[in-house]
Amino acid sequence: MLIRRALDGDAGELLTVQRAAFVAEAQRYGDPFLPPLREDLDGVRAAIASQVVLVALEATRLVGSVRVRLDGRVGHVGRLAVAPDRQRLGIGTRLLAAVEEAAPQEVRELRLFTGADSAETVTRYGRAGYVRTGQGEDDRGVRLVHLAKVLRPPA
Ligand SMILES: CC(C)(COP(=O)(O)OP(=O)(O)OC[C@H]1O[C@@H](n2cnc3c(N)ncnc32)[C@H](O)[C@@H]1OP(=O)(O)O)[C@@H](O)C(=O)NCCC(=O)NCCS
Repeated sequence: MLIRRALDGDAGELLTVQRAAFVAEAQRYGDPFLPPLREDLDGVRAAIASQVVLVALEATRLVGSVRVRLDGRVGHVGRLAVAPDRQRLGIGTRLLAAVEEAAPQEVRELRLFTGADSAETVTRYGRAGYVRTGQGEDDRGVRLVHLAKVLRPPA
């Protein structure tokens, strides 16, 4: 498996994998309009152009993705997604680790959020070093847990 920066030409496949992966979350929350499912091709292309977007490839097949939006010293991690038939093989863990390496030197902290009912995802982020920083809800009332990981303590 190879992890690299996404190119504009990856947008279509990336969107397909994202939609397939997040259907399970939509079913869990009873909401087919979760933000990753509302995103369209232009949205993915804009993210590739303006954020750090990584893709995981098995040979020529795109099997996973994650992105980081940079905001000064903070990187906002989102849209971690692995193709349903390639889950539980360590790809998500490797993508999350790759994000830390891909984050520019000035980024001191990574933040992310996930659905509060996705207990195994929260646990997995905990194992990757993320600690709970708060809770909230999205624009459709889905309860969220916010987590953060310090990459480089302030000098
Ligand atoms: C969340 C998600 C990205 C995880 O991706 P993944 O590739 O399945 O993650 P991993 O394989 O690294 O880890 C998942 C599990 O497989 C296990 N695993 C990893 N490698 C393994 C291996 N070689 N053999 C057996 N199990 C393995 C991990 O221990 C983990 O199990 P655990 O949670 O019970 O400890 C994926 O499930 C997904 O796309 N979900 C839908 C979208 C979503 O919810 N995104 C996150 C919201 S922010």
